[in-house]
Amino acid sequence: MSEYSKHRLFNNDCLDVLRQIKGRVDCIFADPPDNIGLKYSAHRDDLADEDYIAFLQEWLWHAIRKTLCIWLSYNTKWWANVGRIITEIEAHFGSSIEVKQCVQTFTFGQHNCHDLGNNHRPLLRIRWSDSLLYPDAIRVPSRRQLNGDKRADPRGRVPGDVFDFPRVVGNSKQRRRWCPTQLNEGLVERCLLLTTKPGDLVLDPFAGSGTTLRVCKRIDRRCILVETSPDYCEKIAEEHDLEIEKLPAEGRAVEGSRSSNSRFLKGQQTLFPLEEAA
Ligand SMILES: C[S@@+](CC[C@H](N)C(=O)[O-])C[C@H]1O[C@@H](n2cnc3c(N)ncnc32)[C@H](O)[C@@H]1O
Repeated sequence: MSEYSKHRLFNNDCLDVLRQIKGRVDCIFADPPDNIGLKYSAHRDDLADEDYIAFLQEWLWHAIRKTLCIWLSYNTKWWANVGRIITEIEAHFGSSIEVKQCVQTFTFGQHNCHDLGNNHRPLLRIRWSDSLLYPDAIRVPSRRQLNGDKRADPRGRVPGDVFDFPRVVGNSKQRRRWCPTQLNEGLVERCLLLTTKPGDLVLDPFAGSGTTLRVCKRIDRRCILVETSPDYCEKIAEEHDLEIEKLPAEGRAVEGSRSSNSRFLKGQQTLFPLEEAA
């Protein structure tokens, strides 16, 4: 097995992959498009509001059944709509589900000299109540430690629900210029360290630049990426020496490769069970 064969990359709509997963992944990290008119290579980021909200609703209802925990980073514009969907999910599953509202605050937010600029982004965690957390894995130096206070817990402190990580812009080493938006690797890492252990399986249904895979490699998690853009898939495949798989859309025969690029597996019928990814 090559170093990376434990990771998989699907050039698909995430709903097609979610529907075909048998069993559950340990964690889903999701950063869907914000539907604010960004220029992606394939995705159209200007759906009618009701279509976008219906999409969020559909994939969240699928996702919660296919994982122990979901992290959802989304745009403040949609907080009321996401809140409604989550309230319905909570009402359906009752105390089996636990929802945690977190927030990402960031420097390098867009400046607005006429009003308060946007410097935060909601981050939701929805998990099955009996899933495990690993808080010791995300400890950070405490104020007491930094002040040289002898009473300080030498292990540091478990951070709170505010995630302070800058946006990935400018000359950041994390930046992949071909992707119009990407999350800070530090934020994704903290989420995954808290809710998974080494060897666990993480799914990112909206891969973008492949941030989740870069983090998974660093902290030894297995990763499944799903991305509709063939261009982004090719870039990720090249960076990580992966093959691009394509599942049949539901009820349709699988399409052959869309290009002569050998990274696309032609007519690939590979399905889960997920254990095959190990
Ligand atoms: C906000 S970006 C994700 C950025 C990513 N978190 C990162 O750090 O690089 C959203 C991505 O989802 C992709 N996408 C949009 N609709 C999709 C769908 N239905 N299934 C899979 N991917 C989709 C877009 O092409 C885009 O690359």
